[in-house]
Amino acid sequence: MIKAVIFDLDGVIVSTDEFHYLGWQRLADEEGIYFNRKINERLRGVSRLESLEIILEKTDKNYGQEEKKALADRKNGYYRELLNTLSPADILPGALELVNGLKNAGIKVAIGSSSRNTPFILEKTGLAATFDAVSDGNQIKRSKPDPEVFLLAAAKMHIPPAQCLVVEDADAGVEAAINAGMKCLAVGSAYLHPGAHMRANSLIEISVADIFSF
Ligand code: G6P
Ligand code: MG
Repeated sequence: MIKAVIFDLDGVIVSTDEFHYLGWQRLADEEGIYFNRKINERLRGVSRLESLEIILEKTDKNYGQEEKKALADRKNGYYRELLNTLSPADILPGALELVNGLKNAGIKVAIGSSSRNTPFILEKTGLAATFDAVSDGNQIKRSKPDPEVFLLAAAKMHIPPAQCLVVEDADAGVEAAINAGMKCLAVGSAYLHPGAHMRANSLIEISVADIFSF
């Protein structure tokens, strides 16, 4: 029986996954590094610096630690410019309806995101007071597929991992959920992940009854 649902943020609750892509594409173009949407898929759920390492696989140039930090900061600046335009209109279709339906049914809801921009995004979209717990990139040492971010969310809600369901759009996130001993609903880009327990193209397709069916 599921007692809590932990939602990934970027690409599940809010359409910020596109802004991440645009920020990295701008940085890669400026640095003359080949990058495209296919490579971008590997960055979903992965921390900022680990994302940069994936982008740097396409260059022979050796960047030192300070230079890498500067590149990641630059991308974050481009990303934050785009985040400034965020509003409740950027909440993905079906997300708020499902979150509110779960709360009304007595199921706890949390955010489990690798992003250090999570508090800012929740504020801009009017969701800062919506969730029972927020576990994000500012509070963890290891990003997905490590289960740390989801285990922290479960601990904050005092719900055992086995009674938690994770909603994810990243392959790394589906793996993190499995590593945490949780059930996983894969949406969007993670749709084809074989480890998912349920899948949907969009949260519009998912009802509270579907969650109770686990
Ligand atoms: C999420 C996104 C990733 C992003 C990571 C870190 O997991 O899916 O694409 O790299 O957060 O985000 P940040 O906002 O801290 O750079
Ligand atoms: Mg995501």
